[in-house]
Amino acid sequence: MNIKGKSFLTLKDFTPKQIAEFLDLADWLRDCKRKRVRVRGCEGKNIALIFEKTSTRTRCSFEVAAYDLGMGATYLDPKASQIGKKESIQDTARVLGRMFDGIEYRGYGQEIVENLAKYAGVPVWNGLTNEYHPTQMLADLLTIRDYFGRLEGIRLTYMGDARYNTGNSLMIACTKMGLHFTCCAPKKYWPNEELIEICRGYAAESGATLTFTEDVVEGTTGADVISTDVWVSMGEPDEIWAERIHDLLPYQVTIDCINRAADDVIFLHCLPSFHDLNTEIGRTISEKFGINEMEVTDEVFESKYSRVFDEAENRMHTIKAVMYATLSEVPWPLD
Ligand code: CP
Ligand code: NVA
Repeated sequence: MNIKGKSFLTLKDFTPKQIAEFLDLADWLRDCKRKRVRVRGCEGKNIALIFEKTSTRTRCSFEVAAYDLGMGATYLDPKASQIGKKESIQDTARVLGRMFDGIEYRGYGQEIVENLAKYAGVPVWNGLTNEYHPTQMLADLLTIRDYFGRLEGIRLTYMGDARYNTGNSLMIACTKMGLHFTCCAPKKYWPNEELIEICRGYAAESGATLTFTEDVVEGTTGADVISTDVWVSMGEPDEIWAERIHDLLPYQVTIDCINRAADDVIFLHCLPSFHDLNTEIGRTISEKFGINEMEVTDEVFESKYSRVFDEAENRMHTIKAVMYATLSEVPWPLD
């Protein structure tokens, strides 16, 4: 794969072969880290991390991966920088592009990260927009491949709000890589028709299938992977909680869903997750609406089926792969 200098904005821009190569590279980098082998190729470079929304995993993954590769990392909190308020994205891109070798962006519309990439002159990596979460997808695919030894033919069911970043991106990732994708949600939470059509095209190439259902029994029976995400995403108004709980509570991942799935089913969640009362929001929602767990029950989250912490660790290895593939001065061994 030769994608040096290229941005990583959505998986739509990459072929299945390139996506598989990102996973192989992440696997190799993970092995190097565990053996404490230093990886050469990026030393002395610097990256900027723009976060217009909060983060634990993505920020830490970029920072740790950068340090492991011998790079410097600068975190830019929009509250303490000029971005957006006093300086346009175009101007910010042109300034940061002069100082940094790569830029991560987490924020709102996909057009913002596309614009940043257009003007920066260095690789830009999408750390989450409203529409897509592509680095999360590499971690999910790697976690699935680690467990099942393959991606093709795996039946993945996504439950809940499927028309936002995680749901959209999972549909793209699955259909590109030959996994059978089932969207199990009320119709108004299905991805938009335009994206579904694009993914139908990917599925025709890869052998994947696409299923949309409002029926939880149909959606979860025989699934190899069940995945979900929060019901209200960052940037959405608090007033939306009542409607989301009403609409999506029937699509909560429960032990009944797991019992209907394949015997060796795994549960994935990009995290953070509201599965108990150990968060401020979890407690507020409980007091207001009388529910103690939301998109997944604590029983499933804490069960042997749950691979969410492998998935979280894989964020770092896969983000390192994205930076390495787009920045490294030396070809990596598997090339
Ligand atoms: N999954 C994920 O992107 O986590 P953070 O919001 O903590 O980065
Ligand atoms: N859909 C979630 C994903 C968090 C990683 C959000 O946008 O808040």
